[in-house]
Amino acid sequence: MCPSISCHFGMLDPLATARNWRGALARHLTRLDLGSRLDRFFTPAPDRTIRDYVAGAAPIFVVTAERGGDVCGVAEVHPHHNRPSAAEIAVSVDEDLRRRGIGRALFSRALAEAQARGIEDIWVVYLRGNEAMGRIADRAGFASVAGDDPGTITAHLIDFAPMSGGVAAGAEES
Ligand SMILES: CC(C)(COP(=O)(O)OP(=O)(O)OC[C@H]1O[C@@H](n2cnc3c(N)ncnc32)[C@H](O)[C@@H]1OP(=O)(O)O)[C@@H](O)C(=O)NCCC(=O)NCCS
Repeated sequence: MCPSISCHFGMLDPLATARNWRGALARHLTRLDLGSRLDRFFTPAPDRTIRDYVAGAAPIFVVTAERGGDVCGVAEVHPHHNRPSAAEIAVSVDEDLRRRGIGRALFSRALAEAQARGIEDIWVVYLRGNEAMGRIADRAGFASVAGDDPGTITAHLIDFAPMSGGVAAGAEES
């Protein structure tokens, strides 16, 4: 069994928050090890590349998992790069907090928020060997579609309904 943890979930709306969300996001993403960077960015991005990415990011919203005031996981929801009115989700969790249901809970919250905002077409792209992301997407009802890159899986939600049972045991809600 996973040990219980104490974290809470929040929402960063870049257009509405006064918080330095870019700093919080950059701190979390630059803590990822090389393997996780590969999974998240499809390249073992150095810190500078991650900071550049964060500086230019324009997410619709970001769901956060926080512990002790620090962001320890995110589900970033971005406009889809080439589908108007669609969105893409990218999720990441600090290594030391994995396998406790946080990734799935972040993803579930991101889907619920997207649905509340009227986003009906939502996508995720992940490396073919990324078992954790595959399980999260499968359980959420995502279906894979043919993509150009054999190394990645592109999936989208056919029957858009929030996942059930998304909150991790032992994780507190804000
Ligand atoms: C993907 C990621 C967010 C999952 O976070 P997490 O908090 O460990 O996920 P959860 O604890 O909610 O686990 C989700 C499922 O994956 C499974 N899982 C988690 N880590 C796993 C691993 N290393 N190998 C196999 N399965 C794994 C869990 O058992 C769970 O399965 P279940 O729903 O059948 O019980 C995390 O591994 C991560 O940050 N990876 C790097 C970034 C990344 O890959 N992002 C995805 C592409 S954008």
